[in-house]
Amino acid sequence: MVRKAIIPAAGYGTRTLPITKVLPKEMLPICGRPAIDYLVEEAIKSGIEQILIVVSRSKNMILDYYDRSVELETYLDEKGKNHLLKEISLPNVHFQYVRQSYARGLGEAILLGKHFVGDEPFAVLLPDEIILSDKQPPLSQLIEMFKEFKGNVIGVKKTDPSLLKNYGVIQPQALREKEYTIKDIVEKPQQSPPSDLAVIGRYIFNPAIFHYLETISPGVGGEIQLTDAIKAMAQDYTSYALEIQGQSYDIAKSTEYVKLINYLCGPKED
Ligand code: UTP
Repeated sequence: MVRKAIIPAAGYGTRTLPITKVLPKEMLPICGRPAIDYLVEEAIKSGIEQILIVVSRSKNMILDYYDRSVELETYLDEKGKNHLLKEISLPNVHFQYVRQSYARGLGEAILLGKHFVGDEPFAVLLPDEIILSDKQPPLSQLIEMFKEFKGNVIGVKKTDPSLLKNYGVIQPQALREKEYTIKDIVEKPQQSPPSDLAVIGRYIFNPAIFHYLETISPGVGGEIQLTDAIKAMAQDYTSYALEIQGQSYDIAKSTEYVKLINYLCGPKED
């Protein structure tokens, strides 16, 4: 039912400079794989069949990563290293790409997916947040709620009040355990956040979101903010939030990046 996903990856990665001057944040290595590959895996495990990656002109490395390297395949074959071919096999999903010419905001990046999406519900995954769950993949938790309520579903997590100013924060109305309807949402509240539930980079949208993205004005930072479109749509259609079960890591924060790597491929305790 939710077959398509958009991964916006056209930002400048200013929080992770200087490395992001040459290496896209989405390609930061995590145990030998680029960060974006963890999202692609999460999307596939959640039933996604088509992925649109929004890139910029400095992100061709992402396209190369998801393309065959016939030269390398031939080399491995000739050298009798066929067992390594599985390391470079491509994920079983259809990729498309669109370029965002200037990073005018997450909202604008999503809007570039309008033709890809058509009239179906779709998912959005932000590559800064890697979320590990030993139960259901985070995206499929949202898809399950979407199947029941048919409205936009936004992934949230309880967040330390001192950090809320860095996130979109919802004003929730309790629905069931860890499930809410969204009364309001504020981007990066500098004071009086409406709750401690911060948006963490996983969304399911109805295609009507594009109408709101097309009509909102630039918001915080002069950017077209996805949060503002969610807010406007929530006034007209009931929208939902789900506390995602799992541990999330913001790879733009070096402490969380290191924690994630240690957890996934550091020395294991006996
Ligand atoms: P962020 O604001 O976290 O990413 O946007 P950024 O802009 O790359 O990094 P900082 O904040 O300057 O360090 C969340 C996601 O949205 C994408 C980014 O690539 C990131 O994956 N994005 C953001 C776009 O694709 N286009 C934009 O105009 C803005």
